[in-house]
Amino acid sequence: MTNKTVLIFFFFSFWSLGNAYSQINSIIPGDDGRSWKLSTRSSFYEVWLTKDNEVKFSCYGDKLMKDISYRPLLKDELPTRNARNYAESVIELEFPDGVRNLDLTFESAEILDIDGYQTLAITQKDKLYPLRVTEYISVIYEKDLIEKWITVKNGAKDKRSGNIEIERLMSGSIFLPQNDYDLTHYSGWWGHELQPAVTTLTPGSKIIHVRDFKPYGSSFFAVKPTGEHDGFSGEVWFGTVDYSGNWKVQFEKSSTGELQILGGMNFWDQSVILKKGESFTTPKIILGYTREGLSGASRNIVAYTAERLPQYHRNTVRPVIYNSWFATGFGVTENNQYELAKVAKKMGAELFMLDDGWYQSKGIAMSLGDWTEDKNKFPNGLASLVKKVKQLGMEFGIWVEPESVVTTSELYKMHPDWILGYPNRDSRIDPHRIGREDKYYMLNLAREDVYEYLFDSYCKLLKETDIRYLKWDMNNLLTDVGFPSGTREEQMEVRIKYVENMYRLMEELRKEFPDLWIENCAGGGGRIDMGLMKRTDISWVSDVTDPVVRIFMHYSYLALYPASTMLDLVTDADNHELGLSMGFKFDVAMSGILGVGANILAWNDMQLDIAAKKIAEYKEIRPIVQFGIPYRLISPYETNRSAIQYVSQDGEKSVLFIYNLSEDPSGSTPEAKQSTIIRIKGLDPNAAYTIEGMDGTFSGKFLMEQGLDYHVRGAYKSRIFKISKK
Ligand code: GLA
Repeated sequence: MTNKTVLIFFFFSFWSLGNAYSQINSIIPGDDGRSWKLSTRSSFYEVWLTKDNEVKFSCYGDKLMKDISYRPLLKDELPTRNARNYAESVIELEFPDGVRNLDLTFESAEILDIDGYQTLAITQKDKLYPLRVTEYISVIYEKDLIEKWITVKNGAKDKRSGNIEIERLMSGSIFLPQNDYDLTHYSGWWGHELQPAVTTLTPGSKIIHVRDFKPYGSSFFAVKPTGEHDGFSGEVWFGTVDYSGNWKVQFEKSSTGELQILGGMNFWDQSVILKKGESFTTPKIILGYTREGLSGASRNIVAYTAERLPQYHRNTVRPVIYNSWFATGFGVTENNQYELAKVAKKMGAELFMLDDGWYQSKGIAMSLGDWTEDKNKFPNGLASLVKKVKQLGMEFGIWVEPESVVTTSELYKMHPDWILGYPNRDSRIDPHRIGREDKYYMLNLAREDVYEYLFDSYCKLLKETDIRYLKWDMNNLLTDVGFPSGTREEQMEVRIKYVENMYRLMEELRKEFPDLWIENCAGGGGRIDMGLMKRTDISWVSDVTDPVVRIFMHYSYLALYPASTMLDLVTDADNHELGLSMGFKFDVAMSGILGVGANILAWNDMQLDIAAKKIAEYKEIRPIVQFGIPYRLISPYETNRSAIQYVSQDGEKSVLFIYNLSEDPSGSTPEAKQSTIIRIKGLDPNAAYTIEGMDGTFSGKFLMEQGLDYHVRGAYKSRIFKISKK
């Protein structure tokens, strides 16, 4: 390197730090070089070495602890399968000679700059075998988060040393001090995405995990000391795994009261072979500590996620979408789609989404796998419809399911060996469970030829049609990942390679088409996670669009993910005998990304007029909704109302959504039942605010401490308050 290039290199390294806090020394080594103190805005993490060079976890918690005396925990920073360990192991493997325990000792530590964040890298080696384990801990100072991940390397130099088989490798572990703890997590199934569950952790093991690629829930967890909490204060440890394959988070409560939390890839039915010189790196686990209750945990993880959405559209307001699936189902034609598009445009929609049913079909079975349009439905070609819709002034989106194939497709006929499954077993998914065609398989995306086929097909489709929005669906699920032609090693690693190639496909398509939008869908919200947050722009939360159900789902979703990714459609679905007003339906869908999915050709002028007005109102508030700081104020899971508030990043504006779910509000006294007071958050106590539709001004202090009288009475009534700093 010449001096000049060195200078340029430093300039760019500095420039790429990307956040104001990267200059803060968030990792401080002890004077003797045998301990490391990591701190975020309000948390503190310590690692240290014993005199025998064992790497120990000391504590993770309140930053104030570092200044007062505390009793460090004597736990292994990386528990392994060995005799001294009473903890759950992060690493389990087998050496070539059949030895299955590890004996790690400290080798080196360094502080690196990774993606602009100070990162502690501690390398340990086995005392006997040529194995090196490096643990990384990155400090995301301003978000009160750390990221952990691990690289394991087979350092054998000669052939005779042989392969190491990894049987389990999590991303990291932490320990919480002796106490009683409650765990909040989110599980789900089709139509019931992200159901919150709260449980007290008793001695023993509690595991949340996925084994079929499709959790409908989340690896997100929040653990707090058992007891009274208002949701906005109190200690909470939380985290999530940055992975879209099978993941696992384990909570191990000892009989003496300590709690170990560890998470990462789920090694159920999988292993990794490390040949000499090879290494394997886990996905990250993101961990956080806050004293601001679950609300603080959510705000930190949501802000972290928002900064990691795909860069191109990260700060672009999301379009108002019209999706034709609920109107025309599989019966799409060029004509009916164009008619819908014209009305959608008039209402104010900005993107027209052509859902399932547009590609080749054989009888009633859609030819998943053959990604060209059905000429009977689009005699002039799909590109012609796209052009016409674009001429109306709307963008065009299309539904795809790249990872699946049906046996009636040309693709399957040409490559029957491209599917995942065992030869002597019928490992396709029970069609009744999916409610779709028979003989429906998942492609083996671990294969390079499958990857290439998909990449080429989608490049061609996007190029020829000029489409820049994919609704990327995955209705399948899978547990029997047979790869009959693969070596034993390929078979055991098939899930890992599959996910790598799924990510790669999205990333490479984005490189070819930088302005591409990707909507994440998996039979509703089956696969929404941090890994796909980084690679998709928008999420389809659920196939259930009933607004009352959606109020609950939105409340959960916003605990984990940014509102700029939460898509809802106003449809004709309405399970309520009395019927829900259009205003209510729109108010629910307007709390994230607004879309319409109803058969708008059947709507009368009054309905179209309401829709147009609501869409116009949404466009006014959407920058605050999509990019503001979210506060979940009243939980529908705990009462019969729901309230969500967003505050713009500059604190100038706020939007408050209130939904009533019952005629008779809950409360133990008549006064409480009558009360419609809500204390809002995130305002400047000393500033004056006006509220659209209300007289006078209010101080921030008043609105946050005395509260706003929101006057919404009766079941299924809603209101949106627009609050501005004077
Ligand atoms: C899945 C999606 C739906 C729709 C259908 C089409 O169920 O979640 O939104 O796209 O597939 O088959």
